[in-house]
Amino acid sequence: MNILVVGGGGREHAIIKKLRENQEVETIYALPGNGGIAHDAECVSIGAKDIPAIVAFAQSHNIDYAVVAPDDPLVLGCVDELEKVGIPCFGPKANAAIIEGSKVFSKNLMKKYGIPTARYETFDRMNDALEYLQTAPIPTVIKADGLALGKGVIIAMAREEALQAVREMMEDKKFGASGERIVIEEFLEGPEVSVLSFTDGKTVVPMVSSMDHKRAKDHDEGLNTGGMGTIAPNPYYTPEIAEECMRTIFLPTIEAMNKEGRTFKGCLYFGLMITKDGPKVIEYNCRFGDPETQVVLPLLKSDLLTVMQAVTNGTLAETEVRFSSDSACCVIMASDGYPSSYEKGYPISIPEALWDHVYVAGAAIKDGALVTSGGRVLGCTAVASSLPEAIDSAYAIVKQITFGNAYYRKDIGQRALNAGRT
Ligand code: AMP
Ligand code: GLY
Repeated sequence: MNILVVGGGGREHAIIKKLRENQEVETIYALPGNGGIAHDAECVSIGAKDIPAIVAFAQSHNIDYAVVAPDDPLVLGCVDELEKVGIPCFGPKANAAIIEGSKVFSKNLMKKYGIPTARYETFDRMNDALEYLQTAPIPTVIKADGLALGKGVIIAMAREEALQAVREMMEDKKFGASGERIVIEEFLEGPEVSVLSFTDGKTVVPMVSSMDHKRAKDHDEGLNTGGMGTIAPNPYYTPEIAEECMRTIFLPTIEAMNKEGRTFKGCLYFGLMITKDGPKVIEYNCRFGDPETQVVLPLLKSDLLTVMQAVTNGTLAETEVRFSSDSACCVIMASDGYPSSYEKGYPISIPEALWDHVYVAGAAIKDGALVTSGGRVLGCTAVASSLPEAIDSAYAIVKQITFGNAYYRKDIGQRALNAGRT
């Protein structure tokens, strides 16, 4: 089989490595992939948002199955266009990807169907938002409606900060059209859990839970990033919470999307907060998380391609999806300065024996050598029978990989280790 994977980050590298385990897979093309993915797939320099070029490539290369991983092409209708020319795909169509593409849509969906989430108001006129904020409870959370590279959420600890965030989004257009509408919502507190799930629109199969570490610096300080590391499973996600989430969040969401005529097929990511009033939805993503995928897929024991095809064919209920009971830890090695400015172009050295543990994100090949080309450069994942061992092993791998200006958090997994003690 010839497989096409749209995207070029650590998440896509993890998907590609897992797909490789299926003996029937011959060639995997990554569009665009990256210098490290080139170790495991044929990279083609077609951008993940260039849908006409992706479709033309798929048609001319006998593609049997396509996996569309990032949010942008999903929201832009990449799956719709590939399916139109007869290529089966993993990923939601545009009308379902809107669950991530518009926060106003997802908040209204949750309100309409009684799915637990933070209380909120939506605004499309700046003055209305500013007036509302004069009396809104503080802290408060301001969210741009559309996709904003994970940066469109401002947690305002003071009223002036909230007013400023609204002006930046709606007047200065900091996030372009994504900030033309905004959501202002209640500030929630509690541990966060990421639950990725497979769904064919009828059945929902949650994957092993995980915990992201979004801030750039140790002890959850510094700026928000795409994610500096992950662990799985998440100790806050107890069997009781899992049962409650299935009943109050997962199944109602799938049902709600069906009732709206927007059946969701693919990976639906539930970003949850376990509040004192129970689990609530912080966000939905229409795709695998990054770097959650780098700890979740290494724990998947079933064949990924078989599960993905069952999602496409609507036969998930009859398909076994099994996870290991081990733990996993992924530590992201970044370019120092990320998520602000950073230098690129430093050679990366990865011992050959460690390649199975490495998922490359921001790296390119220059004059035959792998060099840094992005903020998050790569992730090192280790799997072990306990979380402390997985953390130690992941850091042991990190220490053997070198590149100029490398930076990583030293405390990935510590909060999870303390979970029982707080
Ligand atoms: P997002 O970009 O939607 O993933 O949001 C980024 C982060 O903002 C989340 O991971 C949470 O830590 C935080 N966040 C989002 N919404 C809320 C909320 N209503 N209350 C508290 N924190 C929030
Ligand atoms: N790690 C968070 C995300 O993928 O959105």
